[in-house]
Amino acid sequence: MIEDMLRTPSAVRDAERYTAHNYHPLPVVISSAEGAWLTDVDGRRYLDCLAGYSALNFGHRHPTLIRAAHEQLDRLTLTSRAFIHDQFADFCRELAALCGKDLVLPMNTGAEAVETGIKVARKWGYQVKGVTPGQANIIVADGNFHGRTTTIVSFSTDDDARADFGPYTPGFTVVPYGDLTALEAAIDENTVAVLLEPIQGEQGVVLPPDGYLPGVRRVCTDRNVLFVADEIQSGLGRTGRTFACEHEGVVPDLYLLGKALGGGIVPVSAVAGNADVLGVLKPGQHGSTFGGNPLACAVATEVVRLLATGDFQRRSTELGERLRAGLEGLLGKGLVAVRVRGLWAGVDIDPTLMTGRQACERLMERGVLAKDTHGSTIRLAPPLVITADEIDHAVAQLAAVLAG
Ligand SMILES: Cc1ncc(COP(=O)(O)O)c(C=O)c1O
Repeated sequence: MIEDMLRTPSAVRDAERYTAHNYHPLPVVISSAEGAWLTDVDGRRYLDCLAGYSALNFGHRHPTLIRAAHEQLDRLTLTSRAFIHDQFADFCRELAALCGKDLVLPMNTGAEAVETGIKVARKWGYQVKGVTPGQANIIVADGNFHGRTTTIVSFSTDDDARADFGPYTPGFTVVPYGDLTALEAAIDENTVAVLLEPIQGEQGVVLPPDGYLPGVRRVCTDRNVLFVADEIQSGLGRTGRTFACEHEGVVPDLYLLGKALGGGIVPVSAVAGNADVLGVLKPGQHGSTFGGNPLACAVATEVVRLLATGDFQRRSTELGERLRAGLEGLLGKGLVAVRVRGLWAGVDIDPTLMTGRQACERLMERGVLAKDTHGSTIRLAPPLVITADEIDHAVAQLAAVLAG
């Protein structure tokens, strides 16, 4: 095809020209998608190995979810929470059941779920635990990623995320991820919660050391501190279980959920917890105009039903082993480390070969889309509908890129 006839270059140029540069996307312009595959404006096809940072766990345009969205669009899209709509109770009941909790509080973005968790933990601290007014503190982990609000970036340890956005919200203590002794030592009488990603996704799919999450659970219970698990990226089937915490039999006090909950169609997030914790919120103390809207609930209820079958978790476990085997075969052939749980992998490229960004650009030229993070790491998180052959294809393309 003659370069001038392609639509991609001008679309990339215009996107650059008219947006704030808060992202550095690969120069690919997608116009349609189905399942695990994307098509760009010039008709080229790509295997999606990012899945919208796990927002597309069920693939692009899953027929059940699209049908639910269409049907809801034709009936009712928004009421606000000033009134109750007919999709609300089913969603809340079924999500609470999936989580094994009494209650859910729906919001929209992941960051809002995190903010909600922080507010609930603080209020619980003052009203139930009896923490000194204004002194609540929350323990978080080094290398965390919980979103982009001013409060959340206040306890980020990533300079890009945090620098020049102060003044910062106080009340957070950062400890090394995976270090139970440090975490326990940081707890004092005003500690209301430990907030953790069970697997640190943005940090490069960093897995918890064995026994860490059960240890956090034990310490939290012993010291009357809430364990708040940010499962926004790790949850809802990604790791082969409904929740990443399940791999070690851990049940947190609050689950923070987002991304895949909206089926890749609408932003839906939620906090799930028991009545003794989530019940501290009273009318007027928290909310969102769009949180729990009819369209969101209609789609998310179907998401919960897809997960309730266990099929996606099984696929993730089985295909994840294939992905692991393929990637481990590249150790010493351009990869220096591989971390996999379910269909979620972080691979570290030998930095003397190329950066993660360069690897992703070369993968793109070979029809595979993935995302780098922190220098020489790539995350692979394909939709859970990907097939075994497609996984082999992705691994083969990565092998070719590494072989130069
Ligand atoms: C673990 C985790 N928490 C929170 C968020 C923030 O979610 P959102 O971008 O929907 O605000 C993300 C997003 O990547 C995440 O990975």
